[in-house]
Formats: sequence, structure tokens, C-alpha cells
Amino acid sequence: MPLKNSEQNYGIVSRANHWLTAFIFIGLLAIGLYMTGLEKGDDKQALYALHKSMGIALFGLMLLRLVWLKISPNPEQLSKNKFEHILGHAVKGLLYLAMLGMPISGWIMSNSGGHEVSFFNMFALPTLMGEHEMTHEISEFIHSTFGFVLIAIVLLHIAGALKHHFVYKDVTLLRMVGKNKATDTTEKNSEGK
Ligand code: HEM
Repeated sequence: MPLKNSEQNYGIVSRANHWLTAFIFIGLLAIGLYMTGLEKGDDKQALYALHKSMGIALFGLMLLRLVWLKISPNPEQLSKNKFEHILGHAVKGLLYLAMLGMPISGWIMSNSGGHEVSFFNMFALPTLMGEHEMTHEISEFIHSTFGFVLIAIVLLHIAGALKHHFVYKDVTLLRMVGKNKATDTTEKNSEGK
């Protein structure tokens, strides 16, 4: 089971990072949507703490992903036409932006609102700033607005993966779950030569 990505396939490190990230990311969106509607109280506080801890985990995975991308670049995406090639890259680019932007805006939002960001009460992230109302409002706007946009982007990403699997019947999804047998015969994207 190769650790590194090849020209055709994802290695175990990228696959593990992707699925762990996907799980945490979808959980964060679901908890984020639910917790904001709760009445003030212990449940709300516990969910906010969980959301922040999961956000730190996502951020950590993203930093590891960036290091790993330098060591072992991803295989090129398989695209049927130019439009889908650009769309696929745009969606993944926005997901990358989200994996950095959402934790950072959340971190700023918490600190500027007078709260710390702790990881399951084991350690807290450094405090970036003291209470600051305007920063708090701007970061809250970015975090929550982009959060809603992200639901659509994630759905588009999943729809794309399913289209590749069921309509194009290519190895896009199979290689992300480590089941691509045709390692050396996979064609590289025809548009992005
Ligand atoms: C059930 C949910 C998901 C499925 C089925 C899925 C499927 C896939 C597949 C098949 C690829 C490979 C695309 C290619 O090789 O061109 C991929 C890549 C990718 N996915 Fe997902 N994905 C899911 C959820 C997510 C979520 C929630 C994120 C959010 C961050 C995400 C972020 C990415 C990124 C950034 C890539 C590019 C490769 C990488 O850097 O790891 N995915 N996904």
C-alpha cells in the first residue's frame, strides 16, 4: 500500500487525510448549523467547544496536507471536457480555501468576541487579539456566510465524484478509496495536457 501519490493514484496518506477531513468537515457544518439555533445553556456551550476542537483538527489536517502536497503532489484530475476540468479545479480550490479560511475566521471570531479556542480542553490556540467588536462582526459574517456557500460546494463536489463513478465510469472515486486496479493504464486528463 504506497504511502505516496503516484501520477495515477492517491497514496494512503492523502486518502486518509481526505476521508478524515471530509468526515470532520461535514460534521463541522452540521454542528455549526445546529448549535447556533440553540438556547444559551450547557448544551450550546458543549457544542461550541466541540465545534472549535473539530475546527482545530481540520486546520491541523490542512497544514499536514500542504506539507504532504510538497512531498507528494496529487494525481491530475480526470476530466471529460474543459468546462468540467475548470469546475473540478474551482470546487477543489474553494474547498482548500475553506479548510484554511473557516478555521482562521472562526479563531479570529472567537478571540475578538472574548473567547479562547481550545482543543478538547487539552490546549488552547494562542490568542490573536483581545475583544474587538468590529473584527468580531466581520469575522462572524465571513464564517457564517461562507459556511452556507460551502454546503453547496460540498454537494457539488460529491455530485462530481458520483458522476465520475456512475456516468463516466472512470477511476476518480475508486482511486480515492484505494480500489483503482488499473494503475498504469489510467489516462491523464485529456484537456489539461
Ligand atoms: C462523501 C463525501 C465526499 C466524496 C464522495 C468525495 C470524493 C472525492 C474524490 C473522488 C476525490 C478525487 C478527485 C480527483 O481525483 O480529481 C476528492 C478529492 C478531494 N476532496 Fe473530496 N469527497 C467528499 C468530501 C469532501 C469534503 C467534505 C471535502 C472538504 C474539505 C473534500 C475535499 C477534497 C479535496 C480538497 C480534494 C482534492 C484532493 C486532495 O487534495 O485531497 N472532499 N474527493
